Amino acid sequence: MAETLAHSEWSVDPLKSATAPALGRVKQIWAIGGGKGGVGKSLIASSMAISLSRFHQKVVAIDLDLGGANLHTTLGVDLPQQSLSDFIANRVPRIDDCVIPTGIPNLSVISGAQDSIGVMHLQNEHKVRLLEAFRKLDADYVIFDLGAGTSSHTIDFFLAADVGMVTVLPEPTSIENAYRFIKSAFYRKLRSSPTMDPVAHLIDAAMEGKNDLGIKTPSDLFREVNAVSPEAGMRMKELIAGMQPRLVLNQVRTQTDIDVGFSIKSVCKRYFGIDIDYLGYLDYDSSVWQAVRRKKPFMVEFPNSRLVGNIDKITHHLFRKASTPSTIPR
Ligand SMILES: Nc1ncnc2c1ncn2[C@@H]1O[C@H](COP(=O)(O)OP(=O)(O)OP(=O)(O)O)[C@@H](O)[C@H]1O
Ligand SMILES: [Mg+2]
Repeated sequence: MAETLAHSEWSVDPLKSATAPALGRVKQIWAIGGGKGGVGKSLIASSMAISLSRFHQKVVAIDLDLGGANLHTTLGVDLPQQSLSDFIANRVPRIDDCVIPTGIPNLSVISGAQDSIGVMHLQNEHKVRLLEAFRKLDADYVIFDLGAGTSSHTIDFFLAADVGMVTVLPEPTSIENAYRFIKSAFYRKLRSSPTMDPVAHLIDAAMEGKNDLGIKTPSDLFREVNAVSPEAGMRMKELIAGMQPRLVLNQVRTQTDIDVGFSIKSVCKRYFGIDIDYLGYLDYDSSVWQAVRRKKPFMVEFPNSRLVGNIDKITHHLFRKASTPSTIPR
């Protein structure tokens, strides 16, 4: 269930100031999320980072799994001395001090925070500082590997990215969690916009699920918002139109599995009014575990596999879209 937010948390819009492209040289940030643990977020983040680096793009992969950082391992890097914790706690003054080369040309990694307790207390201003620092990295692309669940940090980093991908397996539990993740992002996006402040109580009620107003679905929320303030209703529509989460279906074995992506897309349209972009699917590959055991990137160990082909295809599609920025919905 989506968290209830303390209103004070939103005294500033945490995302707006940090997402302005003018702030740095980074062309795009891609975030790999998904409600459930173990669905392949880190595999996809590391593989897409490698794929992009092979398109001669300078890439920094950032581990934002604040409770269980292991992106460095999927990239074949030993636990680095400096991690995000050091930057957050001001033990190192510059984010660049946390950027570790992976040995793969054009690709570096920022290892995840090691002291999860400290990180749990990340304040809004910390998040803004982090996002500003990420935008200013010496990189063309930044890839976020997000943690499982729908914590406010995870959703904020997802929403702050230019391209937010939801990873899902063709399994009921994973699909359920993917909806929960999209729902959390949906409400948090509305809640973080100061223009929605006059109807904040309605959004909070919707997030809580149980309420006396009969708000159960996003369309119930829209009805109530519109009744209180047609202006806010219009703004709500605009905010939703600006949301385009991407969907990646992982560990696919059959055509029926592939079709799950289309079902999720149509449910999201009907239920949230959100246009999900179903980017494609990734095959289940029984050799992934071998790469994991060897602590080597799958992309490097099995370069001729179909799974690598799937990853390259999606990455190339996004890369091409990014090269024509006017067509990219943000
Ligand atoms: N396409 C695939 N084919 C086969 N195995 C896969 C595939 N994708 C992921 N896996 C396996 O699933 C496991 C979980 O993957 P990964 O660690 O990338 O998930 P995660 O979503 O990042 O998990 P967490 O939420 O714990 O961070 C890995 O051990 C990997 O072997
Ligand atoms: Mg992971």
